Amino acid sequence: MDRNIGILTAGGDSPGLNAAIRGIGKAAHRTYGMNVIGFRDGFRGLMQNRTIRLDGSTLSGILTAGGTILGTSRDKPHKMPVGGRTMDMTDLMVENYHANHLDALVCLGGGGTQKNALHLAKAGLRVLTLPKTIDNDVAMTDVTFGYDTALTIATETIDRLHSTAHSHHRIVVVEVMGHNAGWLALGSGLAGGADVILIPEIRYDLERVSQAVIERRQAGSTFSIIAVSEGALSREQADNLDRWKTRKKNAANEYELRKATLKLEKARQEQAEHTHRLARKLEDLTRLESRVTILGHVQRGGVPSPGDRVLATRLGSACARYIDKGIHGVMVAARGEGTEPVPLEEVAGRRKTVPLDHPWIRSARSLGIGFGD
Ligand code: F6P
Repeated sequence: MDRNIGILTAGGDSPGLNAAIRGIGKAAHRTYGMNVIGFRDGFRGLMQNRTIRLDGSTLSGILTAGGTILGTSRDKPHKMPVGGRTMDMTDLMVENYHANHLDALVCLGGGGTQKNALHLAKAGLRVLTLPKTIDNDVAMTDVTFGYDTALTIATETIDRLHSTAHSHHRIVVVEVMGHNAGWLALGSGLAGGADVILIPEIRYDLERVSQAVIERRQAGSTFSIIAVSEGALSREQADNLDRWKTRKKNAANEYELRKATLKLEKARQEQAEHTHRLARKLEDLTRLESRVTILGHVQRGGVPSPGDRVLATRLGSACARYIDKGIHGVMVAARGEGTEPVPLEEVAGRRKTVPLDHPWIRSARSLGIGFGD
Protein backbone atom coordinates (compact mmCIF):
# COMPACT_ATOMS: atom_id res chain seq x y z
CA MET A 1 0.00 0.00 0.00
CA ASP A 2 1.21 3.55 -0.76
CA ARG A 3 2.64 5.51 2.12
CA ASN A 4 1.58 9.13 2.66
CA ILE A 5 3.43 11.92 4.38
CA GLY A 6 2.50 15.50 5.25
CA ILE A 7 4.76 18.54 5.59
CA LEU A 8 4.14 21.87 7.32
CA THR A 9 6.28 24.94 7.98
CA ALA A 10 5.80 26.82 11.26
CA GLY A 11 7.21 29.84 13.11
CA GLY A 12 9.04 32.69 11.39
CA ASP A 13 9.88 32.00 7.75
CA SER A 14 13.49 31.32 6.90
CA PRO A 15 15.57 31.01 3.74
CA GLY A 16 15.97 27.34 2.82
CA LEU A 17 12.43 26.23 3.75
CA ASN A 18 11.51 25.55 0.13
CA ALA A 19 14.77 23.73 -0.45
CA ALA A 20 13.91 21.52 2.54
CA ILE A 21 10.32 20.90 1.34
CA ARG A 22 11.75 19.94 -2.06
CA GLY A 23 14.43 17.73 -0.46
CA ILE A 24 11.89 15.79 1.61
CA GLY A 25 9.28 15.68 -1.14
CA LYS A 26 11.47 14.60 -4.04
CA ALA A 27 13.34 11.95 -2.04
CA ALA A 28 10.10 10.62 -0.52
CA HIS A 29 8.45 10.47 -3.92
CA ARG A 30 11.25 9.28 -6.18
CA THR A 31 13.29 7.04 -3.92
CA TYR A 32 10.69 5.67 -1.54
CA GLY A 33 7.49 5.91 -3.61
CA MET A 34 5.56 7.94 -1.02
CA ASN A 35 2.74 10.42 -1.67
CA VAL A 36 3.39 13.86 -0.23
CA ILE A 37 1.00 16.61 0.80
CA GLY A 38 1.65 20.00 2.41
CA PHE A 39 -0.49 21.77 5.02
CA ARG A 40 -0.86 25.50 4.53
CA ASP A 41 0.12 28.10 7.14
CA GLY A 42 1.65 25.86 9.79
CA PHE A 43 -0.41 24.08 12.45
CA ARG A 44 -3.43 26.20 11.49
CA GLY A 45 -3.57 24.43 8.11
CA LEU A 46 -3.42 21.05 9.85
CA MET A 47 -6.35 22.11 12.03
CA GLN A 48 -8.35 23.38 9.05
CA ASN A 49 -7.22 20.53 6.79
CA ARG A 50 -6.07 22.93 4.09
CA THR A 51 -3.73 20.88 1.96
CA ILE A 52 -1.79 21.03 -1.27
CA ARG A 53 -0.43 18.05 -3.20
CA LEU A 54 3.36 18.16 -3.37
CA ASP A 55 4.26 16.34 -6.56
CA GLY A 56 6.79 16.74 -9.36
CA SER A 57 5.29 19.96 -10.61
CA THR A 58 4.74 21.75 -7.25
CA LEU A 59 8.22 20.75 -6.10
CA SER A 60 9.91 22.05 -9.24
CA GLY A 61 11.55 25.46 -9.42
CA ILE A 62 11.35 26.17 -5.68
CA LEU A 63 14.94 25.43 -4.62
CA THR A 64 16.05 29.04 -4.89
CA ALA A 65 12.82 30.71 -3.75
CA GLY A 66 12.76 32.54 -0.41
CA GLY A 67 9.97 32.15 2.17
CA THR A 68 7.83 29.02 2.14
CA ILE A 69 5.44 27.92 -0.59
CA LEU A 70 3.25 26.45 2.16
CA GLY A 71 2.89 29.64 4.18
CA THR A 72 3.55 29.73 7.90
CA SER A 73 2.13 30.95 11.23
CA ARG A 74 3.13 31.05 14.86
CA ASP A 75 0.02 29.12 15.97
CA LYS A 76 0.32 26.37 18.57
CA PRO A 77 -1.90 23.23 18.47
CA HIS A 78 -2.89 23.51 22.14
CA LYS A 79 -3.32 27.32 22.18
CA MET A 80 -5.05 28.13 18.92
CA PRO A 81 -6.89 31.44 18.52
CA VAL A 82 -10.34 30.42 17.29
CA GLY A 83 -13.28 32.83 17.08
CA GLY A 84 -11.82 35.25 19.62
CA ARG A 85 -10.93 32.47 22.06
CA THR A 86 -7.80 30.40 22.66
CA MET A 87 -8.54 26.69 22.33
CA ASP A 88 -6.74 23.36 22.42
CA MET A 89 -7.21 22.01 18.88
CA THR A 90 -4.93 19.00 19.21
CA ASP A 91 -7.73 16.45 18.73
CA LEU A 92 -8.85 18.01 15.47
CA MET A 93 -5.28 17.92 14.18
CA VAL A 94 -4.99 14.25 15.10
CA GLU A 95 -8.27 13.63 13.27
CA ASN A 96 -7.05 15.41 10.12
CA TYR A 97 -3.76 13.52 10.19
CA HIS A 98 -5.72 10.26 10.08
CA ALA A 99 -8.26 11.58 7.57
CA ASN A 100 -5.32 12.09 5.17
CA HIS A 101 -4.08 8.53 5.94
CA LEU A 102 -0.67 9.90 6.90
CA ASP A 103 2.20 7.67 7.92
CA ALA A 104 4.26 10.65 9.11
CA LEU A 105 4.08 14.41 9.55
CA VAL A 106 7.20 16.54 9.08
CA CYS A 107 7.27 19.93 10.86
CA LEU A 108 9.88 22.41 9.71
CA GLY A 109 10.59 25.02 12.36
CA GLY A 110 12.58 26.54 15.20
CA GLY A 111 12.42 26.11 18.97
CA GLY A 112 8.65 26.66 19.29
CA THR A 113 7.93 24.18 16.50
CA GLN A 114 10.02 21.50 18.22
CA LYS A 115 7.81 21.86 21.32
CA ASN A 116 4.60 21.77 19.28
CA ALA A 117 5.82 18.73 17.36
CA LEU A 118 6.57 16.89 20.60
CA HIS A 119 3.07 17.78 21.78
CA LEU A 120 1.59 16.12 18.67
CA ALA A 121 3.92 13.14 19.03
CA LYS A 122 2.61 12.68 22.58
CA ALA A 123 -0.91 12.81 21.15
CA GLY A 124 0.01 9.74 19.08
CA LEU A 125 1.17 11.14 15.73
CA ARG A 126 4.33 10.00 13.95
CA VAL A 127 6.18 13.30 13.81
CA LEU A 128 9.63 14.31 12.58
CA THR A 129 11.10 17.81 12.51
CA LEU A 130 13.81 19.74 10.72
CA PRO A 131 15.69 22.59 12.46
CA LYS A 132 15.21 25.96 10.77
CA THR A 133 15.75 29.49 12.01
CA ILE A 134 18.00 32.40 11.14
CA ASP A 135 18.81 32.60 14.88
CA ASN A 136 20.67 29.24 14.86
CA ASP A 137 19.45 28.58 18.39
CA VAL A 138 17.84 25.12 18.07
CA ALA A 139 19.41 22.68 20.53
CA MET A 140 21.12 19.41 19.53
CA THR A 141 21.99 20.32 15.95
CA ASP A 142 25.28 21.74 14.69
CA VAL A 143 23.43 24.40 12.74
CA THR A 144 19.97 25.39 11.48
CA PHE A 145 19.11 26.31 7.91
CA GLY A 146 18.42 29.99 7.38
CA TYR A 147 21.36 31.04 9.51
CA ASP A 148 23.92 31.07 6.73
CA THR A 149 21.79 33.30 4.51
CA ALA A 150 21.00 35.75 7.32
CA LEU A 151 24.66 35.78 8.30
CA THR A 152 25.58 36.71 4.73
CA ILE A 153 23.00 39.52 4.61
CA ALA A 154 24.07 40.93 8.00
CA THR A 155 27.75 40.74 7.09
CA GLU A 156 27.22 42.47 3.78
CA THR A 157 25.37 45.24 5.63
CA ILE A 158 28.24 45.72 8.09
CA ASP A 159 30.67 45.78 5.15
CA ARG A 160 28.66 48.55 3.54
CA LEU A 161 28.29 50.52 6.76
CA HIS A 162 32.07 50.70 7.13
CA SER A 163 32.58 53.14 4.29
CA THR A 164 29.87 55.55 5.41
CA ALA A 165 30.91 55.36 9.10
CA HIS A 166 34.50 55.99 8.05
CA SER A 167 33.64 58.91 5.78
CA HIS A 168 31.59 60.73 8.43
CA HIS A 169 33.70 59.72 11.46
CA ARG A 170 30.61 58.27 13.10
CA ILE A 171 29.63 55.46 15.40
CA VAL A 172 27.26 53.14 13.54
CA VAL A 173 25.19 50.81 15.70
CA VAL A 174 23.77 47.97 13.62
CA GLU A 175 21.03 45.80 15.11
CA VAL A 176 20.61 42.25 13.87
CA MET A 177 17.95 39.69 14.82
CA GLY A 178 18.31 37.32 17.76
CA HIS A 179 16.17 37.83 20.85
CA ASN A 180 17.71 35.11 22.96
CA ALA A 181 20.85 34.02 21.16
CA GLY A 182 23.67 36.10 19.73
CA TRP A 183 24.86 33.85 16.88
CA LEU A 184 23.91 36.32 14.16
CA ALA A 185 25.48 39.38 15.81
CA LEU A 186 28.58 37.41 16.76
CA GLY A 187 29.02 35.79 13.34
CA SER A 188 28.34 38.92 11.30
CA GLY A 189 30.32 41.08 13.73
CA LEU A 190 33.33 38.81 13.34
CA ALA A 191 32.97 38.43 9.57
CA GLY A 192 32.27 42.14 9.05
CA GLY A 193 35.00 43.41 11.37
CA ALA A 194 32.79 45.10 13.98
CA ASP A 195 34.66 46.84 16.80
CA VAL A 196 32.19 45.93 19.54
CA ILE A 197 29.69 43.03 19.54
CA LEU A 198 26.79 42.99 22.00
CA ILE A 199 24.84 39.75 22.46
CA PRO A 200 22.09 38.57 24.86
CA GLU A 201 24.47 36.12 26.53
CA ILE A 202 26.77 38.92 27.80
CA ARG A 203 25.20 41.82 29.70
CA TYR A 204 27.05 44.93 28.67
CA ASP A 205 28.27 47.96 30.54
CA LEU A 206 27.68 51.18 28.64
CA GLU A 207 30.84 52.77 30.04
CA ARG A 208 32.89 49.87 28.65
CA VAL A 209 31.35 50.25 25.21
CA SER A 210 32.06 53.98 25.13
CA GLN A 211 35.57 53.35 26.43
CA ALA A 212 36.22 51.00 23.50
CA VAL A 213 35.12 53.72 21.07
CA ILE A 214 37.24 56.37 22.82
CA GLU A 215 40.30 54.10 22.78
CA ARG A 216 39.86 53.54 19.06
CA ARG A 217 39.69 57.26 18.49
CA GLN A 218 42.81 57.83 20.58
CA ALA A 219 44.55 55.19 18.46
CA GLY A 220 43.59 57.10 15.30
CA SER A 221 40.33 55.42 14.18
CA THR A 222 37.65 58.06 13.95
CA PHE A 223 34.74 55.69 13.44
CA SER A 224 33.37 52.57 15.13
CA ILE A 225 30.96 49.83 14.15
CA ILE A 226 28.91 48.20 16.90
CA ALA A 227 27.00 45.01 16.05
CA VAL A 228 24.18 44.41 18.50
CA SER A 229 21.62 41.62 18.86
CA GLU A 230 18.02 42.75 19.23
CA GLY A 231 17.97 40.89 22.56
CA ALA A 232 21.17 42.34 24.02
CA LEU A 233 20.79 43.96 27.45
CA SER A 234 22.83 46.43 29.40
CA ARG A 235 23.49 45.44 33.03
CA GLU A 236 21.21 48.24 34.14
CA GLN A 237 18.34 47.07 31.89
CA ALA A 238 18.83 43.46 32.90
CA ASP A 239 18.76 44.36 36.62
CA ASN A 240 15.63 46.42 36.09
CA LEU A 241 13.88 43.56 34.26
CA ASP A 242 14.95 41.04 36.91
CA ARG A 243 13.77 43.34 39.73
CA TRP A 244 10.24 43.79 38.35
CA LYS A 245 9.90 40.14 37.36
CA THR A 246 10.71 39.14 40.94
CA ARG A 247 8.41 41.81 42.41
CA LYS A 248 5.59 40.63 40.13
CA LYS A 249 6.12 37.03 41.18
CA ASN A 250 6.18 37.90 44.88
CA ALA A 251 3.45 40.57 44.85
CA ALA A 252 1.54 40.45 48.14
CA ASN A 253 -1.57 42.27 46.97
CA GLU A 254 -3.43 43.65 43.96
CA TYR A 255 -1.72 47.07 44.16
CA GLU A 256 1.79 45.56 44.16
CA LEU A 257 0.89 43.25 41.31
CA ARG A 258 -0.45 46.10 39.17
CA LYS A 259 2.56 48.29 39.88
CA ALA A 260 5.06 45.50 39.09
CA THR A 261 3.18 44.60 35.90
CA LEU A 262 3.29 48.20 34.66
CA LYS A 263 6.96 48.62 35.54
CA LEU A 264 7.81 45.33 33.84
CA GLU A 265 5.96 46.41 30.71
CA LYS A 266 7.91 49.68 30.71
CA ALA A 267 11.22 47.85 31.17
CA ARG A 268 10.35 45.54 28.25
CA GLN A 269 9.44 48.52 26.10
CA GLU A 270 12.78 50.14 26.92
CA GLN A 271 14.55 46.90 26.01
CA ALA A 272 12.74 46.80 22.67
CA GLU A 273 14.10 50.28 21.89
CA HIS A 274 17.52 49.65 23.38
CA THR A 275 19.54 50.12 20.19
CA HIS A 276 18.40 53.72 19.74
CA ARG A 277 19.00 54.44 23.43
CA LEU A 278 22.44 52.89 23.18
CA ALA A 279 23.36 55.09 20.21
CA ARG A 280 22.09 58.24 21.97
CA LYS A 281 24.01 57.47 25.14
CA LEU A 282 27.20 56.70 23.20
CA GLU A 283 26.89 60.03 21.44
CA ASP A 284 26.72 61.77 24.85
CA LEU A 285 29.64 59.84 26.28
CA THR A 286 32.00 59.97 23.30
CA ARG A 287 30.90 63.21 21.62
CA LEU A 288 30.95 61.33 18.32
CA GLU A 289 27.92 61.46 16.08
CA SER A 290 26.10 58.15 15.90
CA ARG A 291 23.59 56.49 13.59
CA VAL A 292 21.46 53.35 13.89
CA THR A 293 20.73 50.72 11.24
CA ILE A 294 18.12 48.07 12.12
CA LEU A 295 18.14 45.22 9.65
CA GLY A 296 14.86 43.58 10.66
CA HIS A 297 13.08 41.17 8.36
CA VAL A 298 15.37 41.81 5.42
CA GLN A 299 17.58 39.18 7.10
CA ARG A 300 14.93 36.52 6.50
CA GLY A 301 14.00 37.50 2.97
CA GLY A 302 15.02 36.38 -0.47
CA VAL A 303 17.15 33.71 -2.05
CA PRO A 304 18.80 31.18 0.30
CA SER A 305 22.60 30.94 0.22
CA PRO A 306 24.22 27.88 -1.42
CA GLY A 307 25.18 26.67 2.09
CA ASP A 308 21.56 26.77 3.26
CA ARG A 309 20.33 25.06 0.09
CA VAL A 310 22.79 22.20 0.58
CA LEU A 311 21.98 21.89 4.31
CA ALA A 312 18.20 21.97 3.78
CA THR A 313 18.46 19.46 0.93
CA ARG A 314 20.54 16.97 2.86
CA LEU A 315 18.38 17.26 6.01
CA GLY A 316 15.27 16.88 3.85
CA SER A 317 16.48 13.79 2.00
CA ALA A 318 17.71 12.23 5.28
CA CYS A 319 14.24 12.86 6.73
CA ALA A 320 12.63 10.86 3.91
CA ARG A 321 15.13 8.05 4.57
CA TYR A 322 14.28 8.02 8.30
CA ILE A 323 10.55 7.89 7.52
CA ASP A 324 11.20 4.94 5.20
CA LYS A 325 12.98 3.17 8.07
CA GLY A 326 10.03 3.80 10.38
CA ILE A 327 11.89 6.32 12.55
CA HIS A 328 9.74 9.06 14.14
CA GLY A 329 9.53 11.26 17.23
CA VAL A 330 12.85 12.83 16.23
CA MET A 331 14.45 15.98 14.86
CA VAL A 332 16.75 15.43 11.89
CA ALA A 333 19.87 17.15 13.22
CA ALA A 334 22.94 18.24 11.27
CA ARG A 335 25.96 16.44 12.66
CA GLY A 336 29.27 17.10 10.89
CA GLU A 337 28.84 16.15 7.25
CA GLY A 338 26.00 13.81 8.12
CA THR A 339 22.70 13.80 9.99
CA GLU A 340 21.41 12.24 13.18
CA PRO A 341 17.87 11.55 14.43
CA VAL A 342 17.63 13.18 17.89
CA PRO A 343 14.61 12.36 20.12
CA LEU A 344 12.27 15.36 20.31
CA GLU A 345 12.34 15.16 24.12
CA GLU A 346 16.02 16.13 23.97
CA VAL A 347 15.35 19.15 21.74
CA ALA A 348 12.03 20.66 22.87
CA GLY A 349 12.24 23.38 25.52
CA ARG A 350 16.01 23.80 25.14
CA ARG A 351 17.87 26.60 23.41
CA LYS A 352 21.38 26.70 21.99
CA THR A 353 22.83 30.02 23.13
CA VAL A 354 26.41 31.14 22.55
CA PRO A 355 28.72 29.56 25.17
CA LEU A 356 30.82 32.27 26.81
CA ASP A 357 34.01 30.38 25.99
CA HIS A 358 33.02 29.70 22.38
CA PRO A 359 36.01 29.83 19.98
CA TRP A 360 34.40 32.71 18.07
CA ILE A 361 34.26 34.77 21.28
CA ARG A 362 37.82 33.84 22.22
CA SER A 363 39.01 34.74 18.74
CA ALA A 364 37.18 38.09 18.78
CA ARG A 365 38.59 39.00 22.19
CA SER A 366 42.12 38.18 21.07
CA LEU A 367 41.68 40.68 18.24
CA GLY A 368 40.61 43.39 20.67
CA ILE A 369 36.91 43.28 19.78
CA GLY A 370 34.91 44.33 22.83
CA PHE A 371 31.77 42.72 24.26
CA GLY A 372 30.98 45.55 26.68
CA ASP A 373 31.91 43.41 29.70
O1 F6P B 1 12.61 33.41 15.02
C1 F6P B 1 13.29 34.10 14.07
C2 F6P B 1 13.10 35.59 14.22
O2 F6P B 1 13.47 36.19 13.01
C3 F6P B 1 13.86 36.24 15.37
O3 F6P B 1 15.20 36.51 15.08
C4 F6P B 1 13.07 37.48 15.61
O4 F6P B 1 13.26 37.93 16.92
C5 F6P B 1 11.66 37.03 15.36
O5 F6P B 1 11.75 35.92 14.49
C6 F6P B 1 10.77 38.07 14.72
O6 F6P B 1 9.49 37.55 14.65
P1 F6P B 1 8.32 38.09 13.73
O7 F6P B 1 8.65 37.77 12.31
O8 F6P B 1 7.13 37.38 14.20
O9 F6P B 1 8.29 39.57 13.93
